[in-house]
Parts: sequence; structure tokens; C-alpha cells
Amino acid sequence: MAMTPYKIVPRKVSFDWKGTPPQWIKGEPFVSHLANSTHILLPIVEAWFCQVYKEALPHVTDDKLREDVIAFMRQEAIHGGAHKPLAEHFLKFGMNIAPGVARTQRIVDRLVGDPERIFGLIPVKRLGLGKWWLDTRVGIIAAGEHFTCILGRFILENQELDKLEPDATMLDLLRWHGAEEVEHRAVAFDLYKDMTGAPIAHRVLVLGFILPFLTWYWVESTRYLMSQDPTIAKVPGFFTEWRKASARNIIPSARSLIGASWRFLTPGYNPEHEADTEIALDYLARSPATRRKTAAA
Ligand SMILES: [Fe+2]
Ligand SMILES: [Fe+2]
Repeated sequence: MAMTPYKIVPRKVSFDWKGTPPQWIKGEPFVSHLANSTHILLPIVEAWFCQVYKEALPHVTDDKLREDVIAFMRQEAIHGGAHKPLAEHFLKFGMNIAPGVARTQRIVDRLVGDPERIFGLIPVKRLGLGKWWLDTRVGIIAAGEHFTCILGRFILENQELDKLEPDATMLDLLRWHGAEEVEHRAVAFDLYKDMTGAPIAHRVLVLGFILPFLTWYWVESTRYLMSQDPTIAKVPGFFTEWRKASARNIIPSARSLIGASWRFLTPGYNPEHEADTEIALDYLARSPATRRKTAAA
């Protein structure tokens, strides 16, 4: 029972951050830092995805699904590693975001990091809920991967951003990552379906967990990054800036994200329909980061 009809390929990449400032779209501090929030969260949660999937792998009986899950883990490990150096790079611009990284790590660890305790409190094994907690963490990842696919598709297909002449290396990082999210978009839901059947009531539960978390995270981390940027005198209101930027189609609209949330809950939800693999593979073939690494090899 695997929906990905092709082999998923983990690609090595190389980025040269020398010329990239934190405000990588000139004159767009909000959009730059909204995107920069991924450099804090993704290395943490993508490492966590791999931990949960190591636990889940013994439950996988389908050979193609196991192969897809292993390729997914390899891609996510490379993704996290590609975003991570930016926290240190931003120090050169007077932004110390190490405390924000440590805080996010503590929150993720507390909420979902312990395989023995729900939210670090409820002892699942003692209550006979160990498999339910694993299934639920696999479901949370499936819901999260639905959004990484939606955001990956947006950054990959959006033309408005190019008109603003953004930093080419940062745009390549986001587009390479987005393209691989599109490429492996079916894996997390396949695994969730294989382990639990992905019943709608359980999807409501995992979406009910992830939506408030992501909303809180984006608001808090964007504000935090802007407050650490010495070129920004006053941090503007998050939702006002979101509305203005999404009206210009340089970030996804709230409406499109609500629609995406609803689709995840419908019986006919199929990650295959959420994006176009050809567009992703086309970008991956010409991404400067993958080509640089291929040339070096
Ligand atoms: Fe990723
Ligand atoms: Fe992913």
C-alpha cells in the first residue's frame, strides 16, 4: 500500500551563505523573517520525524513503503542540516538567535519528544497507550507534511517573489527543500494510513494539535526574529503584515491554508493531488545547490 509511484532520491546539497543577509528580500523584513523561522523549527522537527520513524519502521510490512520511509528520513536529515548553519550565519549581522533555537527545542521535546510520555506528563506505556502515542505522533507528522507540501508547492511555483529580486541562495534553499517536500509528499500519509487507517476522527485530533502549534510558532518566531534584527526599529503587527503580503501573493493566504486544512479531513484526501511531481523534479534537476554538489562529486 504505497502511493509514491517512483523512487525518492535523497540529494546532497551545498550552499554558500557568504553574501546572504537575514533580510534576504530587500525592503521585505516581515516576509524575510517569516521564511527565516524555518531555520529554527525545521532542523528540530525534521530530526524528530526521523526519531519517530525509527520507532515506526518495525511496524511497516510493505517493502516499497519501507523503502519510501527510509528515503524520506534521509531527505529530512539533509533538510535539517541545510537550514541549521543559518542560525550561526545570522550572528555576523548582529542577530543572536541561539536562545530562540534552544527554547523551541525545549518546547518540541516537552510536547512530543518523549516516546514514553504524552506532553512529558502522561506515562503512556504504563497506561497501555504506547502504540496509540506512536500512531498519534505518526499522524502529527502526516498533518505536518501536508503543510510542508502546500508551502513547498507555493515557494516552488510562485513567480511574484522572483520579481522582488530575492537573494538567490536563500530562494534556492527554500525551493530545493520545497521541491523535495513535494517529491515525498505521499510518504507520511501512506505510513499513517498503513499503521492506523487514518480515521477522520484521529485526523481531527492530530490537526487540532498541529494547527494551534504552527500558528503560535509562526507568530512568535517571526516576531522574535524581527526583534533580534538590529535594522528593525519597531516590530510590526503579525496579522496586518500577513494580510498585506498575502494580498500581494508573496506568502500563502490564510484562506488557502484553511482550505488545505479542510482537505486533510475529507475522506478523499490524497497527497498526490496536492502538487505536481514534474514541477518539483524539474526544479531539482536545475537547483544550483544540487548541481554544485553533483559537479563537486
Ligand atoms: Fe523537509
Ligand atoms: Fe517532509
